Amino acid sequence: MDLTSNTVLITGGATGIGFALAERFLRERNEVIICGRREEALDAAKRKHPELKTRVYDVGKETQRVALHKWATKEFPRLNVLVNNAGIQRRVRIAEDKWKAAHEEIAINFEAPVHLTTLFLPHLARQGRPAILNVTSGLAFAPMAGTPVYSATKAALHSFTLSLRHQLSPTPIQVINPWAESMEATLMTTPRVERRPSWHRSRRAMTESCALAFIKMLRALFAAKAASSP
Ligand SMILES: NC(=O)c1ccc[n+]([C@@H]2O[C@H](COP(=O)([O-])OP(=O)(O)OC[C@H]3O[C@@H](n4cnc5c(N)ncnc54)[C@H](OP(=O)(O)O)[C@@H]3O)[C@@H](O)[C@H]2O)c1
Repeated sequence: MDLTSNTVLITGGATGIGFALAERFLRERNEVIICGRREEALDAAKRKHPELKTRVYDVGKETQRVALHKWATKEFPRLNVLVNNAGIQRRVRIAEDKWKAAHEEIAINFEAPVHLTTLFLPHLARQGRPAILNVTSGLAFAPMAGTPVYSATKAALHSFTLSLRHQLSPTPIQVINPWAESMEATLMTTPRVERRPSWHRSRRAMTESCALAFIKMLRALFAAKAASSP
């Protein structure tokens, strides 16, 4: 797989890591579709990059996930990469937490990637160079006590991604966990004192460095795959 000429759908692509990733995919000459709940955030992203395709969808809601799949596959029949990036993080004390809010966090961070995966799989299976990217977190491996639901959703998504990769290994669909794989490939090989300045300089610098690490990791992964295929 090449990093150019793909049609990439990024959930939550208007801000943060999703937007930084959208910018990198655009720079690599891919068609990029982003969705999110806030129209103003999508409009701001589009003002910066008019070539972005944008649409309001709330992936925390089952009916909107079905609508997103229907719209995206109809409007972009060559869609071959799904990036499950949308996520929210709440700091909560479990004893005081409300189920409705906890369920919303679970729905966005875990139900959505699982449901979107099952919805998009048949379409992706018919495309060239198909891939699913699930954005997890370092907190999947070491939970932060103050974000109990968030950390658990990311651990669940990491686990799901491993099983999905195993099940799809006989197919051309690549299943990638950019967070886990770039941590392994880049962050973990850099001494902590060296990575701290750029990591903490600003949120913009942090999202940029995540997107850069993801793209570097994808390039390496696809190059290795191309080298090993007959
Ligand atoms: N920032 C970090 O340090 C960090 C570390 C590890 C992992 N991550 C993961 O990276 C991903 C992106 O995080 P970020 O830091 O870039 O956060 P962010 O700037 O808050 O971006 C999250 C994006 O997701 C969208 N979103 C949230 N709920 C949504 C929903 N129900 N439907 C559709 N879109 C939704 C938001 O847009 P709307 O509000 O308009 O919907 C926003 O554009 C998340 O999965 C996060 O868990 C982040």
